[in-house]
Amino acid sequence: MNIDAPLLPDTGEPGFGIYVHWPFCAAKCPYCDFNSHVRHQPVDQPRFAAAFQSEMGWMRQMSGPKTVTSIFLGGGTPSLMEPATVAAVLESISRHWHVPEGIEITMEANPSSVEAERFRGYRAAGVNRVSLGVQALNDADLKFLGRLHDVADALKAIRLAREIFPRMSFDLIYARPRQTVDAWEAELKEAISYAVDHLSLYQLTIEEGTPFYGLHKAGKLLVPDGDQSADLYEATQETTARYGLPAYEVSNHARPGAESRHNLTYWRYGDYAGIGPGAHGRLTRGSQKIATATERRPEAWLDLVGRQGHGMIDQEELGRDEQADELLLMGLRLTEGVDLARWQQLSGRDPDPRREQILLEHGFIERLGNSRLRCTPKGMLILDAVVADLAC
Ligand SMILES: C[S@@+](CC[C@H](N)C(=O)[O-])C[C@H]1O[C@@H](n2cnc3c(N)ncnc32)[C@H](O)[C@@H]1O
Ligand code: SF4
Repeated sequence: MNIDAPLLPDTGEPGFGIYVHWPFCAAKCPYCDFNSHVRHQPVDQPRFAAAFQSEMGWMRQMSGPKTVTSIFLGGGTPSLMEPATVAAVLESISRHWHVPEGIEITMEANPSSVEAERFRGYRAAGVNRVSLGVQALNDADLKFLGRLHDVADALKAIRLAREIFPRMSFDLIYARPRQTVDAWEAELKEAISYAVDHLSLYQLTIEEGTPFYGLHKAGKLLVPDGDQSADLYEATQETTARYGLPAYEVSNHARPGAESRHNLTYWRYGDYAGIGPGAHGRLTRGSQKIATATERRPEAWLDLVGRQGHGMIDQEELGRDEQADELLLMGLRLTEGVDLARWQQLSGRDPDPRREQILLEHGFIERLGNSRLRCTPKGMLILDAVVADLAC
């Protein structure tokens, strides 16, 4: 593989992605409900690499021969993987599918688990884009979020990532308790000054089952209300657009051309193979789209792979209506909107003209010529309601 091959351009097609889940973290953040686990004994990485490879064989049988358009190593904390593990995973993917030079290969990394040597190892293995979980640019909020890094570590990781990888993004979480629009705008402008061409900006969500959920329910953690969140969201859209990083999706911002190819595949409702504990996938077999899900618990997943060659516990054939709903749910997150012909083909009908008219009149959606439908910035604020209205 030529790791220096220039990035292939975005064709506008949904594409075919490979997602590999590394389910371990050094500590569990109190807001996070991702499938991530803390282990106090060293993880047997070669065993995991072999199990990933085995599961890929199964997914390859389901998907048939395909050309991969992006690879994403997510977590958990994939930067806890040894570079040799990452190299083995990428090699396995190339053995199962066609992997052209110049596709996007992203890895998530935590600023606290970053060492220059490891970063160089990931780069040598073929990773060409890194996504750093910075989360905040002040130490008090990083502590509140339960992060293991401070601002100095984050800046060091950003510097290193910029030096080593051709492409780099980082995540911030906003709408934190007592965060004002002014404070957030100042932090965001600072973030933009460190950014290359992509930022992911998530509003803090209180997820059921997390420590934050318990605190929130007990009235000990107050987050911005609906109006305050909307103000913060609007400030985010304005500031990023003003500095050349407009939103291309609800929470994702990029200079035109620097969008994450892998995430575009999800939102354009393309296929992806989800490999590893708790990974979800969407694979097309003939005219059928199949939703896949694997066992979430890492050791149970390993056992299952040992016994049956894969850790899949759920395979559901999606009906045309379900696919049409999913296409809408994902596509309306994008500023490019949804391809109506594809939606009509799946659902077998046009959008209900009366409902569409009401949404148009209220300024929640707009047509882009005859072929696409998208949410307006106002509609993005009530995205779920818009989708629900158009879907039924
Ligand atoms: C699965 S995490 C993986 C990244 C990496 N482990 C890290 O935390 O640095 C992906 C991103 O989701 C975001 N995230 C996770 N839980 C969230 C929540 N409850 N509210 C908002 N954003 C959240 C964080 O910004 C995080 O960087
Ligand atoms: S936010 Fe990232 S580091 Fe924190 S528990 Fe979730 S996956 Fe792990």
